[in-house]
Amino acid sequence: MSSYSIDSLEQYFKVYRKSVNKPKKFWGKIAENNFTWYQKWDKVVEFDMQKAEFVWYKNAKLNITKNCIDRHLANRGDKKAIIFEPNNPDEPSRFFTYSELYTEVSKMANVLRDQGVKKGDRVCIYLPMIPELVFTVLACARIGAIHSVIFAGFSANALSTRINDCNAKVIITADGGYRGSKTVDLKKIVDDALNKTNTIEKVLLVKRTNQEIDFKEGRDIWLQPLLEQAETTSKAEVMDAEDPLFILYTSGSTGKPKGMVHTTAGYMVYVAYTFKNVFNYKENDVYWCTADIGWITGHSYTIYGPLLNGATTVLFEGIPSYPDHSRFWNVIQKHNVNQFYTAPTAIRSLAKERIEFVQDFEMDSLKVIGSVGEPINEEAWHWYNDHVGNKRCPLVDTWWQTETGGIVISAIPFVTPTKPTYASLPLPGIRPVLMDELRNEIEGNQKLGNLCIDYPWPGIARTIWGDHQRYIDTYFSKFPGKYFSGDGALRDEVGYYRITGRVDDVIIVSGHNLGTAPIEDAINEHQTVAESAVVGFPHDIKGNALYGFVVLKEVGLWRDRNNLYKEINQLISDQIGGIAKLDKIQFVTGLPKTRSGKIMRRILRKIAEGEKSDFGDITTLVNPEIVEEISKEAL
Ligand code: PRX
Repeated sequence: MSSYSIDSLEQYFKVYRKSVNKPKKFWGKIAENNFTWYQKWDKVVEFDMQKAEFVWYKNAKLNITKNCIDRHLANRGDKKAIIFEPNNPDEPSRFFTYSELYTEVSKMANVLRDQGVKKGDRVCIYLPMIPELVFTVLACARIGAIHSVIFAGFSANALSTRINDCNAKVIITADGGYRGSKTVDLKKIVDDALNKTNTIEKVLLVKRTNQEIDFKEGRDIWLQPLLEQAETTSKAEVMDAEDPLFILYTSGSTGKPKGMVHTTAGYMVYVAYTFKNVFNYKENDVYWCTADIGWITGHSYTIYGPLLNGATTVLFEGIPSYPDHSRFWNVIQKHNVNQFYTAPTAIRSLAKERIEFVQDFEMDSLKVIGSVGEPINEEAWHWYNDHVGNKRCPLVDTWWQTETGGIVISAIPFVTPTKPTYASLPLPGIRPVLMDELRNEIEGNQKLGNLCIDYPWPGIARTIWGDHQRYIDTYFSKFPGKYFSGDGALRDEVGYYRITGRVDDVIIVSGHNLGTAPIEDAINEHQTVAESAVVGFPHDIKGNALYGFVVLKEVGLWRDRNNLYKEINQLISDQIGGIAKLDKIQFVTGLPKTRSGKIMRRILRKIAEGEKSDFGDITTLVNPEIVEEISKEAL
């Protein structure tokens, strides 16, 4: 029990040492003391880093929803599990106690079962941030179906790619969704996506906006009438520790998105443990993570982590700028939020607004503030610390990824002293290492390296859906025997880690991971485009923005630049989603290429960053003259 909650720096070091010296004992005890199991494990962990095979809690049997809900009913039945804060502040907030959550999830689980959804089936969820999203996620887990939540900002194309990749049988969506002053036609997007898929048998519909939709008899089904008649209790399926819990897609630097697979027991233990410690959650606290459930942060730290700890978690449907830029602070005041977890891009955008927006609100309830999704720059760190945390709340800069399942490097509030821009120390069980390009471990400090982890932890993803080889190639091949994160980092003299950003062709824009390849594919679909290259460049609010270098088939086509710019961005929007639109497009006569035909993105990145002359060694290029030409006309 004592290791579950870390309360002093001394204890942290003790627990950390224990966790890396005797990981099996450490993770065994945590699992044993804090969860309910139908059957205990034969072995805590079995793994092979070369083959990327991980089995945690071998042969244990459980259901994660028993741990998220049923386990709390005796003592926390009347405690609020979810506070729903709608997009429109004039619409009343809604509250669901743990008992009510049990009923709602049971009803949804029974409806899914009645609709023929079985253990192991894939269910796509394309919903706005409304309570039904949480209910459907948990209902899938209750009956053993594998949920694949797709961020409701993705386009029909992106949606169909993801449906096809996992052969989903059912999709759950809504008529529409609210987003600030706009509505999003979710059902219409699903209809478009389904023109390019053939595995979906049923579309289950939540009513949210009451807008008109195209209703296809025999395929589309309104959920409400079914829920009204559904039984209010439901049996939880007995799941093996390693049965998949969910698939969540993340962008790769090449090719189609990767369906990261997380399994049941290890994920459960890891997110519960990290939630408890990273947010210092105490029994009556109100916790709020602003991330959309379409991303891993929403899975692990809006739903699973908090509910596993019997916490009260806020579900926010809106955006930080609606109806004005005080919305976050207003919600914190309204619900007396104690822990607040958001992304640097949101902080930067709010820091640009009048200071009264934040100062007008009473935020004394706050105890811990957190940051996730991208490096938090020093200025944003101080603004967040000074104006939101009021210089008295520890700011935890949490580093992790879809692949890690939960937070892996972060300060523990009231335990680890924080340092701006440093994620700080590894959590128990995590062994980070920095590797140089020659695959040697970097021993000293202040040297930049590739951030790897050299021992598995329970929350590590198990595979890429349908493509285990890609999982091995992406994460376990470059530095054999280690998990390679794709991020660069450095370590200071006391062992704190500072994450410097991606070292591959993934670009983080407003906290969203975007691979360059799919964006280039979308641009290249334009009939006038011969080829293109996309790189990131620093942006005040988004962290990074996208810069496209585009070669047209005929030079004469350049005259119509404005239209081209719009059309290219429209293509990107259709193929991927609005989040992947380019901020800048430069039409060029060629791209810098090596003799083997590879585009030298390093040079394009420098040009996009405003560099005019220092491009390093360009002698290996077949067309070195192009560098000057492009840089002269850089935007
Ligand atoms: O580059 C790192 C960045 O976000 C990437 C993971 O993105 P995703 O899988 O979408 O998960 C985001 C939420 C966990 C990482 O490879 N990143 C995430 N958190 C931080 C970060 N970069 C710096 N500091 C962080 N705290």
